[in-house]
Amino acid sequence: MIPTIEWKNGKVFMIDQRKLPFEEVFIEHSGYKDVADSIKKMVIRGAPAIGVAAAMGVALGVNNIDKNEKDPGIIFNEIVKVLGETRPTAINLFWALDEMKKVFNLFQTNIPILKKRILEKALEIKSDDEKTNKDIGRIGEVVINDGDIVLTHCNAGSLATAGYGTALGVIRRANSSGKKISVVAGETRPFLQGARLTVWEMQKENIPVTLITDNMAGHLMSKGRIDLVIVGADRIALNGDTANKIGTYSIAVLSKFHNIPFYVAAPLSTIDIGSASGNDIPIEERDGNEVREIFGKRISLPETKVVNPAFDVTPFSLITGIITERKIISSDPESEIRTLIR
Ligand code: MRU
Repeated sequence: MIPTIEWKNGKVFMIDQRKLPFEEVFIEHSGYKDVADSIKKMVIRGAPAIGVAAAMGVALGVNNIDKNEKDPGIIFNEIVKVLGETRPTAINLFWALDEMKKVFNLFQTNIPILKKRILEKALEIKSDDEKTNKDIGRIGEVVINDGDIVLTHCNAGSLATAGYGTALGVIRRANSSGKKISVVAGETRPFLQGARLTVWEMQKENIPVTLITDNMAGHLMSKGRIDLVIVGADRIALNGDTANKIGTYSIAVLSKFHNIPFYVAAPLSTIDIGSASGNDIPIEERDGNEVREIFGKRISLPETKVVNPAFDVTPFSLITGIITERKIISSDPESEIRTLIR
């Protein structure tokens, strides 16, 4: 499996997801500002992967602090601020920055030790994420039956995480345990994560995949050609409302209408107990040219008014279950979440 993000010799390497599936190019980062820029420009994307990138960005920033620095706190706060201003919806970004802050607070008085501990923490966040995804796959596999056609949206795969993936992790696990499944990937306009990334990942592992444009899902459902939906999440509120890639909500409404199970797969680090409901989740608005253009080619008039929300919120009432690394939450999300996150 090609690594999404890696720490090597004091630098951070990321596969440039904007260029996939046509080119497999790695970008080298030597400072936290480069990492912030790559998160903003979607060189790396997907909530858990953004969290790992932010943690490694902090490690790069701290690595460059002079060992005699009198006030590392000022530098550290600036690093966290710059990384925290990249993408507002993916909660894993803020979760990872908080984890790094805890380490900083413990070791800030000894800079050489601080550098070591901060790097260890960033690497731990990365390895834990991969392990967590495997647990999500193991727990979630039961929702997939032999022969199922599974619709997924965006890319909640290896590329969106430290490895293995959340929604695609469940699919990977079902496939490797011998279930004959096939995947339908929504193309995911405007950034085309489904067409470019999910198809690429599935093909690399010989998991049968069929690409559709986003407006085809309802038709396929009405013809009995989708058995189940599994998507990832960018932020889950305490009441189970889930923000995920724009278009997810429409698929959830269609699934309800057609009586098709609709699952969200996400690590507990994607749950934001500070958001009581989906209304509290900030939705990132991106540049309108992503809608006016495809691969830099205009598909509408240059001044056309557009909106470009990157995410939408699916109410828990439309979700059959949230597959986490500990259990599937299918009812009473608030008390389940409070028990799981203490
Ligand atoms: O804008 P993106 O590509 O970062 O959005 C990604 C998604 O919406 C994913 O479904 C989500 O982050 C879950 S990834 C395991």
